[in-house]
Amino acid sequence: MPLGLKGSALVTGAGGGIGRACVEQLLRDGCERLVISDIHKDSLQETARLAKKINPEAEVVVEAGDIGLEQTAQSLVDIAVKNFGRLDYGLNVAGVAGELKPIVDISTKGYDFVQDINAKSVWLCERAQIKQMLKQEPLPTQLSEMAILLRNF
Ligand SMILES: NC(=O)c1ccc[n+]([C@@H]2O[C@H](COP(=O)([O-])OP(=O)(O)OC[C@H]3O[C@@H](n4cnc5c(N)ncnc54)[C@H](O)[C@@H]3O)[C@@H](O)[C@H]2O)c1
Repeated sequence: MPLGLKGSALVTGAGGGIGRACVEQLLRDGCERLVISDIHKDSLQETARLAKKINPEAEVVVEAGDIGLEQTAQSLVDIAVKNFGRLDYGLNVAGVAGELKPIVDISTKGYDFVQDINAKSVWLCERAQIKQMLKQEPLPTQLSEMAILLRNF
């Protein structure tokens, strides 16, 4: 059963396997306003194409960018707010595998790269997203909507 998601979502890594699956599921669950981002423009555009197939009415803002850069997280939140007035869901999926070698052969630079994308960028995204969410009125939940319906019954 679709979740009837209201509000808007931001998905990073949206050109990859998990990110694309998240975009598709958000749309199937009723979310109609999304910002999708990835460093790879072609795979991001393919996700946008698939999104339009699932819900042609959905507003999908496509913004390529490197989530490893400090300013990207905030600028993606700003784009969501500019287009949709708020942000309700953050799916921070962009990630890298890094050097696929035995631990003794992994360079410090390679280790730092993985940490920067898989850990630090997720925190940067969460910080920017939560900062925005704390400024907003929360969305009515399905439970609170049901309570209103029952009260008026
Ligand atoms: N697939 C799994 O079973 C699995 C399990 C556990 C964890 N993970 C982790 O979850 C994350 C996503 O997995 P996936 O299978 O979708 O991987 P994926 O490689 O298919 O997708 C990752 C996406 O992140 C994007 N990306 C990488 N660096 C970026 C950057 N600097 N800025 C913006 N986008 C960037 C890539 O372009 C890619 O589209 C990865 O970190 C992966 O290691 C995956």
